[in-house]
Amino acid sequence: MPPFFVTTCKKNTLHFPTQKKLEPCMTNTSDHTNKHSSDVVWHHATVTREHREDLNQHKSVILWFTGLSGAGKSTLAHAVEDRLHQMTCRTFVLDGDNVRHGLCGDLGFTEADRKENIRRIGNVAKLFLEAGVIVLTAFISPFRSDRQLVRNLVHPGEFLEIFCSAAIEVCEQRDVKGLYQKARKGEIKNFTGISSPYEAPANPELIVDTGASPLDDCVDQVIELLRSRAIIN
Ligand SMILES: Nc1ncnc2c1ncn2[C@@H]1O[C@H](COP(=O)(O)OP(=O)(O)O)[C@@H](O)[C@H]1O
Ligand SMILES: [Mg+2]
Repeated sequence: MPPFFVTTCKKNTLHFPTQKKLEPCMTNTSDHTNKHSSDVVWHHATVTREHREDLNQHKSVILWFTGLSGAGKSTLAHAVEDRLHQMTCRTFVLDGDNVRHGLCGDLGFTEADRKENIRRIGNVAKLFLEAGVIVLTAFISPFRSDRQLVRNLVHPGEFLEIFCSAAIEVCEQRDVKGLYQKARKGEIKNFTGISSPYEAPANPELIVDTGASPLDDCVDQVIELLRSRAIIN
């Protein structure tokens, strides 16, 4: 085999029902936190998202997993990524704890900090969307308004909200990281489900019963959602 080789991409082989040119979604009246200077001008890329999607042979999308701590967001997001990767899709998981090690390392868990956390993640997810990637995010994201803020950043159909539904009793029983025990003892403040609210989605694109269903079944449901939306073939 030569030291490097070039693969050619089959052009125009995608047949998605809504194949239209998308401009970056910058109209967002409800998002007052995404401020920028009037001297900052958007530079349009030569290689567009459409080109990337053609190359990838699938569309890009944000899969936003939300739910209580221990509901199964990370487990499911990574299992879906694994399945998609085997199908040669370009994917990336943005996971709560990992992001809080770097990009959001300066933020805590007050309402204001949680809001800022989600605003940053939303904007990073949007960049991945432009990069042609299926981006999977695993954040508790307890507040409806914050999730709506991210939905407003992109076009309709590009943000798919997946509610990982598991009763708090189940999550507390699992207590994957021992956090519920600490929260019950008052050692962690503002803990979602104990001392801070979780607002379940009113109208998510998908509800998966991660509290009771086997993981494989939950993965199947997410893959089916992607097929039904013509994100993947
Ligand atoms: N259907 C399921 N989907 C996801 N996780 C599940 C499921 N069934 C059981 N689990 C278990 O629940 C736990 C969820 O942990 P985790 O994914 O870290 O939750 P979260 O990221 O929501 O805090 C894991 O131990 C996982 O094995
Ligand atoms: Mg997690």
